[in-house]
Amino acid sequence: MNPEATESTSSGPAATPGRMTLREAELWAEQQLRIREDLRDRARLDASQLVEIATGTSRVARLAHPEAALTSAQQERLSELVQRRLKAEPMQHLRGSQEFYGRDFRVTPDVLIPRPETEDIVTAVLESVPDRNAALRIADVGTGSGALAVTLALELPGSQVTALDISREALLVAQRNAERLGAAGRIRFLESDLFANLRDDACFDVIVSNPPYIPLPDAPTLHAEVREFEPSLALFAGHDGMDVYRRLIPEAHARLCPGGLLLMETGGEVTWILEALRKGFHAVQVRPDLQGIARVVSARRH
Ligand SMILES: C[S@@+](CC[C@H](N)C(=O)[O-])C[C@H]1O[C@@H](n2cnc3c(N)ncnc32)[C@H](O)[C@@H]1O
Repeated sequence: MNPEATESTSSGPAATPGRMTLREAELWAEQQLRIREDLRDRARLDASQLVEIATGTSRVARLAHPEAALTSAQQERLSELVQRRLKAEPMQHLRGSQEFYGRDFRVTPDVLIPRPETEDIVTAVLESVPDRNAALRIADVGTGSGALAVTLALELPGSQVTALDISREALLVAQRNAERLGAAGRIRFLESDLFANLRDDACFDVIVSNPPYIPLPDAPTLHAEVREFEPSLALFAGHDGMDVYRRLIPEAHARLCPGGLLLMETGGEVTWILEALRKGFHAVQVRPDLQGIARVVSARRH
């Protein structure tokens, strides 16, 4: 994080001037957000969205009636949102939601904000199943907001999904998302360290996981939005970022039915993972994302 930016935000944004119109409110919010260098590039977009959250007006309504005045309650709300944004609080926390695979997921500080690259896991699963109505048993290890578990349950209507997370708070968020999006009936939520709390004989056709994979020493290089506002449990996995994979790969092997598929998101460092998958798996594939980073590794159990 830019230290200059931290200093310049410590006094907070200027008070809102008298009664503002929608247009003035957007300009004022943008000007305030520009104080912080690391938010400058997106200041205009963020300002527009903050006015939307504070006033409940759509972009179209704001364009049609830029002269409409904010109420004092809306102005106060906007000022509070701008202050929080200036402390690098993610827009998704201010809005309370993030879109994933075309659906709106509620997010809180207890869960990772779902990322667009994780949608590649959904695409890879859908490409690998010959029949979308098949009765698949799917496990999502480290479900967080439930983005993968809920999306797979909805895209594969014949499936039964087990959503596992070591964080009870995250599971509550995932469960609420499943209820809101109409998938709760087909997802079982379980607090568990990887597969530890599952019955011994439970086996799956598909196991997906976006585990924490950031090396702890990289923490200072992360943007403040991530480092200070997303749960450490969702981000870090030991000194080299591999701690969870080291346990996940053999445990997933033991939990897959013969021929079952394992799909994991990675941060790009796949050498160790590919080596580990040589034992007991075949059809190992690495899918790069749009930036060419190895993002999804998949493999079939023998
Ligand atoms: C990177 S987040 C992924 C969240 C969600 N699946 C997504 O893709 O947006 C990793 C999740 O794994 C969970 N987690 C970390 N260690 C775990 C463990 N040993 N067993 C189960 N879940 C774990 C964290 O609580 C967090 O919710």
